[in-house]
Amino acid sequence: MRQEQIVVFTGAGVSAESGIRTFRDSDGLWREYTLAELATPEAWRIDPQRVLEFYNERRARVGQAEPNPAHLAIAQLQSGFKVTVITQNVDDLHERAGSHEVIHVHGEITRARSSRDPSLLYDIGYGPIHLGQTCHKGSQLRPHVVWFGENVLNFERSAQLFRQASRILVVGTSLSVYPVARLLYEASRRAEKVIIAPEVEQVPPGYRLFRALATEKVPAIVRDWLADSD
Ligand code: OAD
Repeated sequence: MRQEQIVVFTGAGVSAESGIRTFRDSDGLWREYTLAELATPEAWRIDPQRVLEFYNERRARVGQAEPNPAHLAIAQLQSGFKVTVITQNVDDLHERAGSHEVIHVHGEITRARSSRDPSLLYDIGYGPIHLGQTCHKGSQLRPHVVWFGENVLNFERSAQLFRQASRILVVGTSLSVYPVARLLYEASRRAEKVIIAPEVEQVPPGYRLFRALATEKVPAIVRDWLADSD
């Protein structure tokens, strides 16, 4: 197998056609809910029950969703390249589509962690976390998701992968949340760089933007890139 390294960087838009709502589109979650009341350490301190309910509902929806043709096409890239998916999404649709190397920079909704010790992680699938449910050391469990004001996971490793990649495929992200949006600027000047999304905040230098839905454009790009790898 050819060892060319590809990075696929995804956001909420790659899962939109699986029925999972994005955050900032007209029907996005942050248009209906107030981010500060749900996705910050302060929100957790003030009303943990509300925060748990919000994420319990999101988790149940992930359980009902299925990977779409964009997730499946991204997994097919592995037949010609060494692929790492770096995703801002907390869902597990890349894994269920068959992608083997997936970095979740904003966490994973199918895991819970101790609210005191972030290294105590538990796989919980699609079921709820309840108030009073604790880690084995007795601290309340919380969703393993990165809230605003908390550190992104695996940022340095992700930056390194962006630097090494000869091709970068960005799908379904508004590129409005930092520091992860900065990762795109780590890419090599020589790398082939493509963004697929109807709307983006910015197009960093060297990236080619296709204003398209993920399921329309990702399979076509994957076909082209795999043809190059033959
Ligand atoms: P956003 O909701 O900010 O942006 C969604 C992006 O997906 C936009 O660029 C849309 O144009 C695009 N989009 C919508 N439908 C699409 C489709 N069918 N195919 C392709 N693209 C589509 O979502 P993110 O950029 O992922 O953070 O948001 C980044 C972070 O903000 C999230 O990880 C989350 C959120 O607050 C945390 O929770 C920490």
